Amino acid sequence: MIKEFFSRKRNIEERKEFFKKIRKYLIKTGDSTYTYNDPLFQETMHSLTGAYDESVHKFCIPSEIQKRKYLLDLFSGFGYNAAAALELNPGLKIDMIEKNPEILALGLLIPEVCEAHKIIKAAIESSLYNIGFIKNRVYETPKNIRLFVEDALNFRYENNYDVIFHDAYSPKRNWKPYSLIFFKKLYKVLDENGVLLTYSSSSPMRSSLLEAGFYIWGTEAYKRKRSGTIASKRDLKLKNLSREEERVISLTDLGIPYVKNRDDLREKLRNKVLFSSSVKQCFENIYNFGEKFQITDAEKNKAERSIKKMELTKKEIIYVVCPQYEKCICGKCSRRYENTTERIKEMRYRLLKLKGINVKDFITHFFERFKTDKCIVLI
Ligand SMILES: C[S@@+](CC[C@H](N)C(=O)[O-])C[C@H]1O[C@@H](n2cnc3c(N)ncnc32)[C@H](O)[C@@H]1O
Repeated sequence: MIKEFFSRKRNIEERKEFFKKIRKYLIKTGDSTYTYNDPLFQETMHSLTGAYDESVHKFCIPSEIQKRKYLLDLFSGFGYNAAAALELNPGLKIDMIEKNPEILALGLLIPEVCEAHKIIKAAIESSLYNIGFIKNRVYETPKNIRLFVEDALNFRYENNYDVIFHDAYSPKRNWKPYSLIFFKKLYKVLDENGVLLTYSSSSPMRSSLLEAGFYIWGTEAYKRKRSGTIASKRDLKLKNLSREEERVISLTDLGIPYVKNRDDLREKLRNKVLFSSSVKQCFENIYNFGEKFQITDAEKNKAERSIKKMELTKKEIIYVVCPQYEKCICGKCSRRYENTTERIKEMRYRLLKLKGINVKDFITHFFERFKTDKCIVLI
């Protein structure tokens, strides 16, 4: 329908009229801006609590966009994130990447969410015109904003950015944008003082970031319980993850990053090398050193069975989780661990060491050790 509409030259009035016809296919969110339920991924493109609001609070504010110079806006969609960033920082240079021209064209039709959205629309229009998707232009090409209608995963990145907005569909629907291999690519294009933002708090996604070399922190939760994630190449001393979140990533199979055949790998490692994430709560309760005591007998038995399978003693478990404590509780540490990233790496390292695996690189090692014809891990 959209392709058909743009197969002829369309002026602003015609675009506005056409929007009235297709409005029924869109959803009005909490802040009156529109989102779309993508049938391909069966997920709305934005939060229903407020699409534009999400751009401001989950991306712009935590990234301190006002002090940034060059934004890489991945999975650009309607261009809300880029528009919010430009609204707050009019001098910002932006490269946007979005692979679906119809989504971009829809972005051209929807009402502007802020003044700067006009400039983003101009960039969208210019790119759609260049690839022949639309037949005329009503805006002037902006100077500092470029949009590439391409697959972000295969894009040849050439520049260096001091801020990256990563706004793909959720990892459950589409894990490849959160894969180790893609984050390694992004690591190379992020400036030494730059930050990468995602609204996601998924443990495997955070593990992919860590394995790619990033430091990670949580952003302030906004209109939901879980926070997003901010990553950087340096220790920026931001908000560390909770003790439980750190344990899930470092010690359970849920912390295996997004790699090909991840499910096979999880199956193989669960209860042999890593704790099962399904009993993480019980594991927390038994070995919590007084943090939480209420646990049912059934939970206790389940956790004890899991711990037995792991063949670790309580003393050894204290050694593994010791990096999370202000003072050493295992008697073996020579230093303390200041942030989430250091703690996760150290805890995982300690667990692997106890399991007879004395290597730093978790995934590469597992690749070698558990490689079979059926289980090939893509790095
Ligand atoms: C959650 S929406 C992003 C919303 C957007 N950031 C905004 O401000 O409106 C995800 C977008 O990613 C796009 N997408 C999915 N896979 C992609 C890929 N491999 N490369 C580029 N874009 C992709 C989808 O078409 C969709 O528009």
